[in-house]
Amino acid sequence: MTKITIAIDGFSSTGKSTVAKRLAKHLGYTYVDSGAMYRAVTWYAMKHNFINKERFDIDSLVSHLDDIHLNFVFNKEVGFAEVYLNDENIEKQIRTLEVSNFVSKVAEISEVRSQLVKQQQKLGKGKGVIMDGRDIGTVVFPDAELKLFLTANAENRAKRRFDELIKRGEKVLYDDVLKNVQERDYIDSHRTDSPLVKAKDAIEIDNSDMTKDEQFQIILDLVNKTLKEKS
Ligand code: CDP
Repeated sequence: MTKITIAIDGFSSTGKSTVAKRLAKHLGYTYVDSGAMYRAVTWYAMKHNFINKERFDIDSLVSHLDDIHLNFVFNKEVGFAEVYLNDENIEKQIRTLEVSNFVSKVAEISEVRSQLVKQQQKLGKGKGVIMDGRDIGTVVFPDAELKLFLTANAENRAKRRFDELIKRGEKVLYDDVLKNVQERDYIDSHRTDSPLVKAKDAIEIDNSDMTKDEQFQIILDLVNKTLKEKS
């Protein structure tokens, strides 16, 4: 059976990973969360004190990039691949608001991007891959057969992320989450290297007023249409 590459880009907390995971399970495809890789590098930078509220020592981070080995290992219990940094499972650590507050600054650095994009392209070599992020349809897989661009209003997105963080036991304020979502949107869309933009051939889906099931069905229909055209 024909297999395709599906690129899902969009603003933060637009539910990209939720729909991508469900789609991957349904199709028997591999899901890769490219944001987790930027979060992992950020966590490494925080742990080594290269980045904190006062300073960001970009040169030290760049000179240590070769020491950062990332891996995805499928966890049957949760149904998706978790991220490992130098053989340590850091899936929980990278999802905190603190990491979210630094990640877009780390993701602006070209050396970080080129290193991660190389790894992402390797992971997607065999087709049958769904990858989500900010530059998947524009930079990582410009030839992807199906490109989606997800949007939703900032308040809905912040509420979704706030609920997620509270459920995980983080003590956060809604206003801080909203601020983070808006700041990341700004930095991600204005950076020089691979800014977040909709690829010309991407299909935009505004899911502000959609349930998860409705969105899944719309995307599954698009996948089936694309598969039919390619076979
Ligand atoms: O889950 P959420 O949508 O909040 O973000 P994420 O996908 O985990 O990505 C975290 C951050 O990594 C983004 O805000 C971007 O700064 C960066 N990122 C990127 O620059 N390029 C990607 N392909 C994926 C993420």
